[in-house]
Amino acid sequence: MFKIAVLISGGGTNLQSIIDAIESKQINCKIEMVIGSREDIYGFERAKKHNIDTFVVNKKTYGEKFSDKILELTKGKVNLIVLAGFLSILEGKILEEFNNKIINIHPSLIPSFCGPGMYGLKVHEAVIKSGVKFSGCTVHFVNSEVDGGAILLQEVVPVYFDDDSKTLQKRVLEKEHIILPKAIKLISENKIEFIDGKAKIIK
Ligand code: GAR
Repeated sequence: MFKIAVLISGGGTNLQSIIDAIESKQINCKIEMVIGSREDIYGFERAKKHNIDTFVVNKKTYGEKFSDKILELTKGKVNLIVLAGFLSILEGKILEEFNNKIINIHPSLIPSFCGPGMYGLKVHEAVIKSGVKFSGCTVHFVNSEVDGGAILLQEVVPVYFDDDSKTLQKRVLEKEHIILPKAIKLISENKIEFIDGKAKIIK
């Protein structure tokens, strides 16, 4: 059975989309654990409702050993780490041990509106301020460059003149909830090939 760890920092609607995709048999995998960066996040309630093991790993407690602690919890136990609204940056050994085995969902069309400090509503605020007419979301592989790994899937949404960051976020999240489970399905079915640093989907 293909096993995943889902890492979260907030409400966990993306986590929920994975739980729903598993329950409806759209993807054949098991969420082995949910790791969160704070104790009081709603995403943990979603995990507990489905009897998924939960762990809190935060920078305050683990400092420089933060990423190593996550590696300790996941190594040998999961095939893929899914960053589903996880707002801390993974560094060091975990990136080697899980090379091409960590994915992240980002709420913009990478390489626009991404990189250090760009997360959550800040992304949508920057998108609206810029005046672009389209935004979207991206699932990409994680490497040492923030939001810089190979792009796997993207979806586009329109940006309306009257949008605020919350209305745009809602529209983008609907697409996130489609492409994140789809990305897990592709990886679990071994349908990705890496060519020249790019991810090719095998039909
Ligand atoms: C999502 O919009 C996700 O793309 C974003 O945080 C939100 C989490 O929502 N992630 C980033 O900004 C990462 N740079 P959720 O907790 O409801 O899934």
